[in-house]
Amino acid sequence: SPPYDSKWLGSPISDLRRMPQCGRPLPPLKNAPDHHTVMIRTDLLQTGKIPVPYPNKFRDTWDEVHVKMPCSESNLFPIGNQVLLIPNCKSLRIRASVKLLKCKSRNVLSFPQPIPLLKEGMNHSITLSQVQVASLLANAFFCTFPRRNSRKSEYFNYPDINFYRLFEGSSPKKREKLKTLLCYFRSVIEQKPTGLVTFTRKCLDRPPNWKNSQNQLTKLHITCAGTIEDDGHGMLQVDFANRFVGGGVTGSGLVQEEIRFLINPELIVSRLFTEALLQNECLIITGTEQYSTYTGYADSYLWDGRHQDKTPRDTWQRRCTEIVAMDALKFRNFLEQFHPEKMNRELNKAYCGFSRPGESSQDLSAVATGNWGCGVFGGDARFKALLQILAASEAGRDVAYFTFGDSALMKDVYDMHYFLTQRHISVGALYSLLGQYYSSVCQGCFTRRPDISLYSFIYQEVSSVSP
Ligand code: AR6
Repeated sequence: SPPYDSKWLGSPISDLRRMPQCGRPLPPLKNAPDHHTVMIRTDLLQTGKIPVPYPNKFRDTWDEVHVKMPCSESNLFPIGNQVLLIPNCKSLRIRASVKLLKCKSRNVLSFPQPIPLLKEGMNHSITLSQVQVASLLANAFFCTFPRRNSRKSEYFNYPDINFYRLFEGSSPKKREKLKTLLCYFRSVIEQKPTGLVTFTRKCLDRPPNWKNSQNQLTKLHITCAGTIEDDGHGMLQVDFANRFVGGGVTGSGLVQEEIRFLINPELIVSRLFTEALLQNECLIITGTEQYSTYTGYADSYLWDGRHQDKTPRDTWQRRCTEIVAMDALKFRNFLEQFHPEKMNRELNKAYCGFSRPGESSQDLSAVATGNWGCGVFGGDARFKALLQILAASEAGRDVAYFTFGDSALMKDVYDMHYFLTQRHISVGALYSLLGQYYSSVCQGCFTRRPDISLYSFIYQEVSSVSP
């Protein structure tokens, strides 16, 4: 066991599984119209070579189920020799003039087939090359995606993709965001990346029967040092998301999700085609690369320089970095989160993100997470930690939990996990205890916070049955 003043508790992190060591061999990469759109020639895919777009003839599509591309003949926005002026950003003095016509011909070559929209309720993957992603992001930077500059348009239920808001105002935060993004553009221009990235929208059709689950709690490594992105390499890394994936990354937001989207900018492309997530959905992104390092957080965030990502690639030429965007509920009032309906929603959301039907537990990496829904979204970290432990246990995955400097939280969650596992409290039993906490403590509570904390309630209840 770790020393008394240790920065971590529970299982050593070396006991937790990571990719690529743990996964099963991938099936051959194939285009499958009903569930996987692959935008490159899979037969020509080769380590270290730039993937070739597929098919080789451009098919222009302008409809309700595909991304409307800047290069489409139907894009009637005046192009000709028009010059696009990016509003003057005081601190950076960026001024770009771009001949959109140039983008137009480039696009046609990179995107011969239309990109499907990942709409509500769809289970579908899109695999793109990192070069294609870069081309899309260059268009986003120059704000060329049609119908995407107003939220009143047909894309009202999609995140913003064009970067216009990043050029507004003169906040130091936006300057640091732009530095981070420009570092990405410089890197991919200097050396074209040769890999692929997959975006998978996943919908949970049948939630588990939580109450009756006999599954035991899986392993927990909990630490107040380190971060999900640095220390969770090879694990399933949680993005504390907004239902509009990427949240405020192209605007003023700058917390966990936005930072991740800035240092791994390929994530931003998900905003082009991912409709707002429903209660039972998540988005899994595999293969993005980290291009920048940072210091600080939120108002103190600073771009810290270039990052050389050495993460190994899988046989589909994707970096073994798997990120799951899952949006927690936002709570204004502390008691609200314990309501069974809200609790079930959070459990099923996390389970949707963690479970991999058809895979066995030994092949699944651990989940790297932390205070999901407990910053901007106001949730209680001790409660949310248990919900994530339940969801991961039900999905057969261990948990690496990063408390982001909070050593009291580390100790409390560790003690609770130890107490529960020692007594073989199953997923179903813990779920029932959470329900009892709501009915016996929260329901009749008229103060802002309950008199009895969740953890003391659990200790009390369990000890009275099996001391
Ligand atoms: N690694 C581990 N833990 C972290 C990290 C990190 N890299 N960064 C932050 N934390 P928050 P939410 C911890 O507020 O409440 C965005 O705008 C830290 O303790 O980002 O789910 C989204 O787009 C922090 O307080 O997540 C949504 O709109 C806590 O995680 C909204 O915020 C929560 O981070 C989601 O808010």
